[in-house]
Amino acid sequence: MLLLNLGLFVAIICGAQSADLKFDSGINKCKLDNREIDEASGLAASQIHPGILYMENDKGDTNRIFAVDTTNCHMAAMLTIAGVDNYDWEDLAVGPCGSNSCIYIAETGDHAEDGAKNIIYRVREPAIMKNQTLQLDSQLHFKWGEPDCETVMITPNEDVYTVSKVVGGHGRLAKFSHTAWGSGKTVAAEASVVLNQSSSHHDPVGGDISLDGKEMLIKYKQHVYYWHVPDGDYIKAVTSVPIELPIIKEKRGESVCWDARGIDYYTISEGKLPDLHYFKRTSSIIG
Ligand SMILES: *[C@@H]1O[C@H](CO)[C@@H](O)[C@H](O)[C@H]1NC(C)=O
Ligand SMILES: *[C@@H]1O[C@H](CO)[C@@H](O)[C@H](O)[C@H]1NC(C)=O
Repeated sequence: MLLLNLGLFVAIICGAQSADLKFDSGINKCKLDNREIDEASGLAASQIHPGILYMENDKGDTNRIFAVDTTNCHMAAMLTIAGVDNYDWEDLAVGPCGSNSCIYIAETGDHAEDGAKNIIYRVREPAIMKNQTLQLDSQLHFKWGEPDCETVMITPNEDVYTVSKVVGGHGRLAKFSHTAWGSGKTVAAEASVVLNQSSSHHDPVGGDISLDGKEMLIKYKQHVYYWHVPDGDYIKAVTSVPIELPIIKEKRGESVCWDARGIDYYTISEGKLPDLHYFKRTSSIIG
């Protein structure tokens, strides 16, 4: 009898885990008012400037990223990245780099289907938010058999996770070790796995790992999927069924990011003067 009761107790706790994660259905936080941001294909929250999101334009733009204030959607600064081209930048992340916070830039798109560069650049977040040029802190060059990638995520120990974008959505999630930063070598994936989520488009298009490393989002054009990853094993995590989170329909939505605390999330569409969509967490997973 005692055993039976225990079994029931455990079942209730386990069942509660995913059931307890909830977000509201999302709002239009504000509308961007700067026409220079016309193809926002990456989104990442600053760790040192409250309320600032970084964005970058897809291929065809120059070597720059934008800082946007989430309280009013005004551009706070334009940041030029010294010494690199925007061949086909497809995603941004913010994560640690030693004792600093860095902006990570994914030079990973297949451009005009003539091959991806497969480089991740990183620059330190600027101390002062104003127009300026940022020097590279480091870069990581990788190789894999995938043609195109629009999702790059950084873990708390500076490992890099990429997801390829393919017809039908079954992209490959690959892990590249932080030891490749600045090594001058082109590294292969340490581990990888194909995602189980289907799509009727080329997907996925964006993703983000939370500040504490325990929660991962991967965005498809018409879905946002969530995995709880308390042990940091993202490759294993995506072999389990994700929780689908709310989205607001976007014409060309290719980006998602956690807010700086890793609690709520944002999405934005490519195109001129897009709305910034914001989804507030109303209840968390326990543990
Ligand atoms: C910063 O750069 C943006 C984009 O070119 C420009 O619109 C803005 O006027 C600049 N701000 C300042 C203070 O120079
Ligand atoms: C994989 O996808 C199939 C078909 O959509 C689904 O039935 C199954 O539950 C998925 N498995 C996992 C582990 O996500």
